[in-house]
Amino acid sequence: YGHPRERRAPRGEDATVHPMKLSVIGVGYLGAVHAATMASVGHDVVAVDSDEGRVAALASGTAPFVEPGFDGLLRQTLDSGRLHFTADYRDVAEAGLHFIAVGTPQRPDSHAADLTHVYAAVGSLLPHIRPGAVVAGKSTVPVGTASDLEGRVVGAGGVLAWNPEFLREGFAVRDTLKPDRIVYGLSADAGRAGVALARLDECYAPMLSACPRLIMDFATAELIKVAANAFLATKISFINAVSQVCDAAGADVTLLAEAIGLDERIGRRFLRAGVGFGGGCLPKDIRALQASADLHGARHLADLLGQVDSINREQRDRIVELARTHVGGDLSGRAITILGAAFKPLSDDVRDSPALDVASRLADLGAEVTVCDPQALPVVARSHPHLTLEDDPRAALKGAELVLLLTEWDQFVALDPAEAATSVAERVIIDGRNALDPVAWREAGWTYAGVGR
Ligand code: UGA
Repeated sequence: YGHPRERRAPRGEDATVHPMKLSVIGVGYLGAVHAATMASVGHDVVAVDSDEGRVAALASGTAPFVEPGFDGLLRQTLDSGRLHFTADYRDVAEAGLHFIAVGTPQRPDSHAADLTHVYAAVGSLLPHIRPGAVVAGKSTVPVGTASDLEGRVVGAGGVLAWNPEFLREGFAVRDTLKPDRIVYGLSADAGRAGVALARLDECYAPMLSACPRLIMDFATAELIKVAANAFLATKISFINAVSQVCDAAGADVTLLAEAIGLDERIGRRFLRAGVGFGGGCLPKDIRALQASADLHGARHLADLLGQVDSINREQRDRIVELARTHVGGDLSGRAITILGAAFKPLSDDVRDSPALDVASRLADLGAEVTVCDPQALPVVARSHPHLTLEDDPRAALKGAELVLLLTEWDQFVALDPAEAATSVAERVIIDGRNALDPVAWREAGWTYAGVGR
């Protein structure tokens, strides 16, 4: 594969984009953003999905999710004529490079990833590819998937590559345009590897001038993605586990994180203790890696990830218990306001959202729960019709006997504690993201409880 730490693509000679015909299979979060971003740098992109409703919405310029910068990019690239959405696989036939960007959720019956969509997408695509076309998997898959798929792709006259994606929700457009690194997992067959390498370099030329490109085998490329997410999840669970001892010993985990984070080897990011991680990626990826580790007999990794997952789940229990304690032991009939529903700010994604999980559990325990979120309420209304929803924070706080901050949206962090105090029935706040200034809230007469502080 050449030098494994090759820093930059062999460019500099030529920074201009050579427009290519690309296809993107799957227009979920990852695929839609990838398709629009590739069109924005000059490529001709056809994005395919079997969900005709989603295809029609995107084709008319309507984003099916909240993502900063995406709406404008979508309309601009549709107007440019370089981006098309379709439900018909025949429309991809001219593309020389096809990206597989379908979802790999957790299986209902185990921790492993469900690969149904990946195999279905590849199966639908292959009859339509032209000879020598490159099929690049972007979906997060268990190690071994690419080598299993390679025979089918070669049988259809194509070449397989694995090209994992590391974008964060809330920063998806920026992360796609300015990635930290680009990873190519290539075939063990030198001829096929060369074809894929050249095609991917051509596609990513605009990004490769500014980021490292790493070339490797399929298995390493597949593992890099889940290992990155597992490491981030481990960092969060580590600080959450430390927050438990801080609570017990009267120490402050936010000061501790700041201090240890100043050591460059540790770093400050992903050390915010609180209600824990959620979303469509970290939880299912640590479980999928745990399943792969189990399968390959890597017992220590499987045990470690099991601990990371259970610490994370316990954080939600801790917050529910804290809420119970702060209302005097019995939640039934108590008016509780939850600030936040999305799994993190700048998103309307509520998949495995800690905020929404805690809100439903408090409602199940008899509390009268009102949920406030600037973006996610339309999604919550469909999935949790029993919760009372309110998009104005001041109205949501009215009459609350307990307030929980569980998603650190700017508009919640910026609330004036003195003004908020005039709306609620009881001045008690649980800061499940350690995002508020305890001194300011206490000075305004609030009982403030953070996590490990
Ligand atoms: C994550 C990774 O960060 C991306 O690099 C990866 O590409 C993506 O998954 C993916 O697999 O596609 P994302 O799910 O958008 O991105 O969200 P993160 O920013 O990682 O946050 C995940 C969760 O961790 C959120 O619930 C957040 O509130 C929580 N978190 C984060 C903490 O509890 N503490 C922290 O210090 C940081």
